[in-house]
Amino acid sequence: MVNLTIDDKKLTVEEGTTILNAALQNGIDIPHLCYHPNLKIRGTCRICLVEIEGMRKLETACSTIVKDGMEVHTRSERVEKARRGVIEFLLINHPLNCPVCDQAGDCDLQRYSRRYGREHSRYGEDKRDFPKHDIGGGLIRNMNLCIACTRCVRFARDILGIEEYGIFFRGNDQQVGIYQGGELKNAMQGCMVDVCPVGALTSKDFRFKKRVWFLDPKPSVCQRCATGCNTFIEVEDNVIYRISPRENQDVNDIWMCDIGRMTYHDMDDVEPVTFPMMKSGDQFFELSWERALEELASEIRERGEKGGFALVIGTGASVEDMASALLAADGNIGEERITFVTRVEDITKEKAAGNFLISEDFSPNTAGAKKLGISDKVKKIEDGINSKDITGILFLGCEIFEAGLPDALDLKKVKFTAVITDRLTTEIKKSAEIVIPAPHWSRKSGTFINSKGILQRIEAAVKPQMGVIPLTKVFADLAAAIDKTSADYDSFYKEVEKRVG
Ligand code: SF4
Ligand code: SF4
Ligand code: FES
Repeated sequence: MVNLTIDDKKLTVEEGTTILNAALQNGIDIPHLCYHPNLKIRGTCRICLVEIEGMRKLETACSTIVKDGMEVHTRSERVEKARRGVIEFLLINHPLNCPVCDQAGDCDLQRYSRRYGREHSRYGEDKRDFPKHDIGGGLIRNMNLCIACTRCVRFARDILGIEEYGIFFRGNDQQVGIYQGGELKNAMQGCMVDVCPVGALTSKDFRFKKRVWFLDPKPSVCQRCATGCNTFIEVEDNVIYRISPRENQDVNDIWMCDIGRMTYHDMDDVEPVTFPMMKSGDQFFELSWERALEELASEIRERGEKGGFALVIGTGASVEDMASALLAADGNIGEERITFVTRVEDITKEKAAGNFLISEDFSPNTAGAKKLGISDKVKKIEDGINSKDITGILFLGCEIFEAGLPDALDLKKVKFTAVITDRLTTEIKKSAEIVIPAPHWSRKSGTFINSKGILQRIEAAVKPQMGVIPLTKVFADLAAAIDKTSADYDSFYKEVEKRVG
């Protein structure tokens, strides 16, 4: 360990720590722009300059390692003057248009300019004027705002291994870009926007949709694959505007992939299910919750007695929802007729495009299903369908319909199919007799276990749609309808909790 003082505060930090990290770990703020905790240090912006006793020049706090007995000053007049100079130089070419910049409110340069900037610029010449540039993928590049901190370049090169993205030209003409006018094709472009401390790189998906200070970031977990990256779902008035990564060094450091970021658009072009439906001919008609669950219960009762009813649990469901389904199935659907189903995707292209986080298991809770003792019996269910032993199926979740039903799972041979889902796909319309609404993943709470076995709890980021109720309640009512008793949700939920453990 190393003892030092920063601004007369005595500190003890681990050997090899930089002055900037020693300060940040102890609640002392030193401005920094090119430093990023998950990127290699470059020391280019000079805003973190500090004074160290015994050293003639000011030193950069982000790249200077602490030494025993060091005395550091971060707020001396010399330091403040140097920072004012750095900001003045950075602003020479930077347009002073925060009110109309998409990054405003989330911009480090804006923050430091308020602290160290001059009231009036002494620079009377014309500023640089680069055209805005679409560099492909999901980004817009505006080099008039770039401060050449190289964070995006370090992310592309050191984390993704993309060599063709870099800083081109020198001096006033300096700009980031791709070699010979190529296009950015990597699968983590949102992270390049995240690391950019100013508005030089903005996301096509989010830019100019919402001022960041209106957004309420709700902690959540991405449910697009089994990695389970930690996220913020950013919401205003019950509407999601973007998803951004949340730091968890055990799961995703501070990154997330572009597939996960875009998941909030997954209901944009689909028909949501907000009330129970039953098919008559080729058409679905709305029916009450009571009637829908009674119809489903009577099918389970009749077919289940002879072992003819199966329960297929999609691993997009939370542990609590799966446990509720198991509890409702108890004594009504044989264990050999209950399976989980995962959605596995070929991720070769994603990996080649630098997506180092993605898991080939596109179900967020396969480990949760296994923890509850559910196993993969899809083959047995297929055999049961083909031998006509299974005549009824309940699907919890629509993953398998989205991935395309396996050929052998021929639902034309099944007399009764019910699906609990948040969306009505063409496949579901073709196959289902009854459709029960489920809350969208952003609207439900529950526990998920990722591919590393890490248990993560999420809370709903937005309110459920009118008419949609939590699945634990749906299964409590279904269990009561099967047993022809009145539902007792509290005792049912206590049982669910016991199973979840
Ligand atoms: S585009 Fe942004 S992250 Fe990249 S060098 Fe410029 S300011 Fe830094
Ligand atoms: S890697 Fe998986 S969990 Fe992480 S953001 Fe991408 S899709 Fe979501
Ligand atoms: S943060 Fe230290 S030089 Fe940029």
